[in-house]
Amino acid sequence: MVLITGCSSGIGRAVALRAVRAGFTTVATARKPESLAELEAAGCLVRALDVTDAEARHRVVEELDKKHGGVDALVNNAGYGELGPFEEVPLDRWDRQFQTNVFGPVALTQLVLPGMRERGYGRIVNVSSLAGKIVLPVGAAYHASKFALEAAMEALWLEVHRFGIEVSLVLPGAVNSRWADNVPEQNEYASGAYGDLVSELARQMAERLPRGASVEYASSVVMRALTESRPRLRYPVGADARVLLPLSRMVPARLWSAWVRSHFPSIRHPAPRPVNPPTVDRTRR
Ligand SMILES: NC(=O)c1ccc[n+]([C@@H]2O[C@H](COP(=O)([O-])OP(=O)(O)OC[C@H]3O[C@@H](n4cnc5c(N)ncnc54)[C@H](OP(=O)(O)O)[C@@H]3O)[C@@H](O)[C@H]2O)c1
Repeated sequence: MVLITGCSSGIGRAVALRAVRAGFTTVATARKPESLAELEAAGCLVRALDVTDAEARHRVVEELDKKHGGVDALVNNAGYGELGPFEEVPLDRWDRQFQTNVFGPVALTQLVLPGMRERGYGRIVNVSSLAGKIVLPVGAAYHASKFALEAAMEALWLEVHRFGIEVSLVLPGAVNSRWADNVPEQNEYASGAYGDLVSELARQMAERLPRGASVEYASSVVMRALTESRPRLRYPVGADARVLLPLSRMVPARLWSAWVRSHFPSIRHPAPRPVNPPTVDRTRR
């Protein structure tokens, strides 16, 4: 049985449809169960699950353990992008970002691992992001959450392979989904010190996301991670991810940041050096 989070739309919904059509017992979950009617009609079992809700996580996994023999594969797909300048994104928004993109998937994974270890088989597939490997301005909270997911799941991969459990990270670049509509309100940042950067990122997203990979293609990559006999740790999705992932590792940091800056006119040039640089007052304690 495969348990999938964030199935109200986009990649999660497309994975659920593919999985059920491929003959897997598929449990599609979402915060609003009414958004799952179509998946239920297609044959999925549907359950309400907000990944940030500890009680709901326990309830769903416990029920699947008792009534359906446990979860063989978990797809941690639910997620969103908290975009905004590092300085101005309030800490409670950072917290919600991490609860959703990191702690929810970690906690769900912890719940399904004991059963997987007992049965000697399991798949944990995480929909991470190219944003978990490369960094753009105005995305500190989102990047940090996906970097954290990447690191946590890579550690898990090392730990559980010997129990017959495979862990994969799917890294989409731009995907043409509802993702941008789910980015929390950014108006408050527009008039701040970083307003120019915020509007540059918004413009780039409006240009790039509709031209990104389709959710159908992204879901086919998730299915590969679920079904290949020897799944890989990382699966890039889309031309941008396939090019930028290796490039970001090979190119020296200075060159890489120059390339990133070239896409954001307001940070293209470094700050001019002050004529009389302030000196550190060594007498003050
Ligand atoms: N689209 C892209 O360009 C792109 C690129 C790289 C990575 N990704 C990643 O791909 C994954 C899927 O995104 P998508 O592109 O398919 O966008 P999407 O259509 O916005 O799907 C995101 C899903 O996550 C759900 N979700 C958000 N917070 C949740 C929570 N607390 N509990 C349960 N579900 C929650 C949303 O449900 P609601 O309807 O309840 O909000 C929605 O079903 C995300 O992890 C995203 O970060 C997307």
